[in-house]
Amino acid sequence: MADVSVRELVKVFGRQIVVKGIDLDIEDHAFIVLVGPSGCGKSTTLRIIAGLENPSHGEIRIGGRLVNDVPSRDRGVAMVFQSYALYPHMTVRENLGFALKVAKLRAAEIDRRVAHAAAILQLESYLDRRPSQLSGGQRQRVAMGRAIVREPQVFLFDEPLSNLDAKLRNAMRLEIKRLHQRLGTTIIYVTHDQVEAMTMADRIVIMRDGVIEQAGPPLDVFERPANRFVAEFIGSPAMNLLPARLVRLDGGWGAANPSEAPIRFDAERFAGLEDGRGVLIGVRPEDIVPEGHGVTPRAAHRFEAPVALTELLGNETLLLVPFAGREVMCRMQQPRPVQIGERMNFLVNADRIHMFDEESGRSLRRH
Ligand SMILES: Nc1ncnc2c1ncn2[C@@H]1O[C@H](COP(=O)(O)OP(=O)(O)OP(=O)(O)O)[C@@H](O)[C@H]1O
Ligand SMILES: [Mg+2]
Repeated sequence: MADVSVRELVKVFGRQIVVKGIDLDIEDHAFIVLVGPSGCGKSTTLRIIAGLENPSHGEIRIGGRLVNDVPSRDRGVAMVFQSYALYPHMTVRENLGFALKVAKLRAAEIDRRVAHAAAILQLESYLDRRPSQLSGGQRQRVAMGRAIVREPQVFLFDEPLSNLDAKLRNAMRLEIKRLHQRLGTTIIYVTHDQVEAMTMADRIVIMRDGVIEQAGPPLDVFERPANRFVAEFIGSPAMNLLPARLVRLDGGWGAANPSEAPIRFDAERFAGLEDGRGVLIGVRPEDIVPEGHGVTPRAAHRFEAPVALTELLGNETLLLVPFAGREVMCRMQQPRPVQIGERMNFLVNADRIHMFDEESGRSLRRH
């Protein structure tokens, strides 16, 4: 097991700089998730750590050892890809043991490791089957098994679940977490699915266009997004963003917009308050509460609006309603049937609003 550190990592492909000077410190035993939109450089970063790609600049250390010039197989890492590419003509047992056989381990040692991996992944009763006789989830487990038998110091996962259907993905998510708890091996996991990132990570690293926008524990990133990009990327449905101007009010501050009364907020939470400053107010759907549903906010901005659209999810209903010149998404807990066009009262939880500079998108939060 080992920590991983990346310093000033740059990767250039032709004329395109796809990784633009990334620093990452990953503690031993940590489960970190690299997340970000397609093409932002996640796989490239992972492949450089794995040794499948050379950095254009920067240093990679695994367990304190500089590995820039160490070939992939000697880095103590094992990678699991989206396409798990099992050998179709081999049984599960042979697939699991193949790399060890190539590495000329003793047969008894191969058997021990294959049995161990099969037990962890509950593949014991499938060992004599071929991949074509397995479900997608079982195949994915074999792919993970091939990584486990190598007893790596670090697991690298590149979107290992994206070929699975939603239900299986949820189940496998839990299995990978359990695997991590059991083995304690450092994991670097790449996904563009923010739900996967939130649920699996000890620490999320959010990338955009070759740079890290923010890194931190999932709740931290959710509660305190550093900028508009992270705010919109993390959380589902996405945070509502409303253009507004700051106004000084009697004994406080508010954010106003031509079509809505000012939302009063606690000025202590934000820096850079100036009369007339253009901002974006961020409100998560759960912080716009239909009156009478869920917890009534202590500091509430009330508005009335007709419901434009509903999405029934069973345990909750999402309501799209006009507010401040936009349509905002609200979450209705313990839902009742709602008619389109029905007028309802909504309470914006003013203690939980976010605020971003309208130009730079940076958060104005103090901490
Ligand atoms: N071998 C390569 N040669 C040239 N360009 C490449 C190569 N590999 C990746 N790129 C480019 O580098 C950028 C980052 O690619 P990368 O695969 O790291 O993105 P990603 O974040 O993993 O995206 P996705 O979520 O779609 O997998 C992309 O613009 C891609 O086209
Ligand atoms: Mg990728």
